[in-house]
Amino acid sequence: FATAAVAAACLTFAAPALADCDDGEMVIKFSHVVAGSGHPKGDAATLLAKRVNEEMNGKACMQVFPNSQLFDDDKVMEALLLGDVQLAAPSLSKFEAYTLKYRLFDLPFLFNDLSSIDRFAASEPGKELLNSMTDVGFVGLGYWSSGMKQFSANKPLLLPTDAAGLKFRIQTSDVAEAMIAAMGANAQKLAFKEVYGALQTGVVDGQENSWSNIYTQKFFEVQDGITETNHQLLAYLLVTSDEWLNGLEPDVRDQFLTIVNEVTTSANAAVAGQEAENRQKILDAGSEIRVLTPEQRKAWVDAMKPVWDKFRGDIGEDLIEAAQAANS
Ligand code: LMR
Repeated sequence: FATAAVAAACLTFAAPALADCDDGEMVIKFSHVVAGSGHPKGDAATLLAKRVNEEMNGKACMQVFPNSQLFDDDKVMEALLLGDVQLAAPSLSKFEAYTLKYRLFDLPFLFNDLSSIDRFAASEPGKELLNSMTDVGFVGLGYWSSGMKQFSANKPLLLPTDAAGLKFRIQTSDVAEAMIAAMGANAQKLAFKEVYGALQTGVVDGQENSWSNIYTQKFFEVQDGITETNHQLLAYLLVTSDEWLNGLEPDVRDQFLTIVNEVTTSANAAVAGQEAENRQKILDAGSEIRVLTPEQRKAWVDAMKPVWDKFRGDIGEDLIEAAQAANS
């Protein structure tokens, strides 16, 4: 118990206080799983709440619940449909139960960097993808990027073969599962809040995530080091329920969506800087970051290429081409 309590305390980051809502204000609850501050999503959610609470005062009041305090990413989707929360931003890897189109975002080495995802998000195919789940009652309000993913394990990983036989925690994504299999390793799907404990107790040997998650969740403390693979994008869908959004008065909805769009643009512009800062904090904490040589990187790219063929049919060649076009 003592160890668990210490681990839990380490994971608690100072989050901004919950807004006090007045009578008559529509309450907008936003539940997410990451740190409340010092993380691209945590900070974007805080900024969104600040703007809604200042500019829509008297009409709307946003409360943000970080750190899986209310729901994990599976449960939050049901909560949106039930009206228990109004906003969530699960990673794009976590929507497989609702659409297979988002498998696109998980294809390894698809996007060169964060600017590619910004270009894809602004393209027509990118915008259309926001609406891939309207048949099940969800509307995407925007893509929030969070960084490129890096691998870590309880031993050094320089080549994909170094991972053979290890067990990696993955998000609930079949693409990630296929990617880990392509490395000769085993995958275990686990909720985000369980990752630190699973790494610490050896339930899994390794994980993949952004610098901001590896730093704010302190995964680096219970890993041998981190390999800078930049192998996949971590990005979120800011999502709400169709019923809630369409139930708003048109002027309220317009004002809310304008704020959402402006916050999305400014939050995405801040991600690269925040990721670099959190990468540096991991180094400052004494953890090792392994940078790949071009030959080593090529070995990772080659090992993961077969993963694409498994999912081309679900995603569609046109979408894959549109995403690749965003790289230039
Ligand atoms: C994960 O489960 O690793 C991520 O989706 C967590 C997050 O929201 O960044």
